[in-house]
Amino acid sequence: MILLVLAIDLLAALLSCGVIVLNARSAVEVEMKAALANVELLVSDTIDLAQSASPETLLQTLRLRVQGLRHVRVTVLDASGAVVPAPSPRLRRDQHDPPRWFVALIAPATRQHELPIVVQGRSIGTARITTQPRDEIDEVWGYAVSLSLASLLVSLGLLAALYVAFGRVLAPLTQVADGLTQLERQDYTARLAPPASRELAIIAARFNSVAQALSETRAANGRLNRQLLSAQDDERRATALELHDEFGPCLFALEANAASVIRMAGAVAAPDRAKLTQRAEEISTIVGQVQTLNRDLLNRLRPHALGQVPLPDCLVLLLRDFTRRHSGTDFAGAFDGLGSGYGDVTDLTVFRCIQESMTNAVRHGRAGRVTVEAHEEAHARLVITVRDDGGGIAPDHRVGLGLSGMRERVGALGGTLVLDNGWPGTVVRIMIPFGSERSEDTSAIPDA
Ligand SMILES: Nc1ncnc2c1ncn2[C@@H]1O[C@H](COP(=O)(O)OP(=O)(O)OP(=O)(O)O)[C@@H](O)[C@H]1O
Ligand SMILES: [Mg+2]
Repeated sequence: MILLVLAIDLLAALLSCGVIVLNARSAVEVEMKAALANVELLVSDTIDLAQSASPETLLQTLRLRVQGLRHVRVTVLDASGAVVPAPSPRLRRDQHDPPRWFVALIAPATRQHELPIVVQGRSIGTARITTQPRDEIDEVWGYAVSLSLASLLVSLGLLAALYVAFGRVLAPLTQVADGLTQLERQDYTARLAPPASRELAIIAARFNSVAQALSETRAANGRLNRQLLSAQDDERRATALELHDEFGPCLFALEANAASVIRMAGAVAAPDRAKLTQRAEEISTIVGQVQTLNRDLLNRLRPHALGQVPLPDCLVLLLRDFTRRHSGTDFAGAFDGLGSGYGDVTDLTVFRCIQESMTNAVRHGRAGRVTVEAHEEAHARLVITVRDDGGGIAPDHRVGLGLSGMRERVGALGGTLVLDNGWPGTVVRIMIPFGSERSEDTSAIPDA
């Protein structure tokens, strides 16, 4: 920008010089003509007035009168053609000594007139008048130099002001660029100081809120990762405990019963049929318990019915399982508006969200009744509502792995999850768009 202004300045200076030269040329020309006419009048007036004087006196008078005239030089010659000497040399004022090229640009062609000096019919000499544009050119040069100096000073002042102004405008932009580089390097602590300009202050404020949002997202991701890791550990610990506490005694009992049967079979006396039947019945009961435990465990790790039976049936099975495990709570479901499936990931998301919402309702709300409703809506959307009549959401409730996991799953499918107080109890509203799953890579969504 400064170079552009400089270029415009130079152009303006060149134009001004051109205009000054053109004006000066015509002005000097006019001046010379006027001076020539005036001096001719002066010479003839002098001759007329001094008709009675002697020729020498007349020539001297004439010489004196025309001495020091501006713009013209008058040389007085006597009858023999000799120059009548001037009493004192001509003084030039205000010499600016313009350079030759300037003189050559402005100076008009020199004019010379010879006026005969005639007294009483006799020629006593000649007045040779020559135009002298130097004075005028000196003046123009002086004027041009002062004007150029003034313009130069103004231009320098303007450039300095522009430099300062651009500096003020560009400094915050440099700050923004530096901040963006910091963000690019994943340093989300970058913040911009509010600049003086209102427009740039808005940009700085937006930048700061983006950086803030990024650092919050990173913190949330870190939290989630830590929760995920500890959840995996918890899950493994719970599974190990379950295997130890539930399966261990069953296996021990099976072993004891089998050993008893082996002992009876190896005895010399005939085996007691009633005892054998009792051992077999015990073994069968324990195997039944192991099967139930095994099913529960597998179901918790991965709902095996999912993908094999329609989604509404899977959800009915889930509700039945909850009813069996939580005898103090009624579970009701309405899944008529659901299709048979929406792809593995969507189905699993629906299943896990309902499962977690019902767990929360029992665990935190101590609900007496939980109602689940899921249906398709216009624009290929699934709407799921889980409502309970429990204690409701505490204002300062924490966000655990359950809620954040649901949000992650739903968010990954482009849906939304809202947890709200239902007066009474709690209501979870979930919206999931469907139909795009096959065109997207959803393999990254974990089955926690
Ligand atoms: N139906 C509900 N009724 C009352 N409070 C609820 C309900 N659902 C969630 N909350 C509150 O929200 C909090 C967060 O729930 P979230 O499922 O994220 O974590 P959590 O259940 O405490 O732990 P987990 O990670 O095992 O799920 C709960 O601790 C509870 O205070
Ligand atoms: Mg939970």
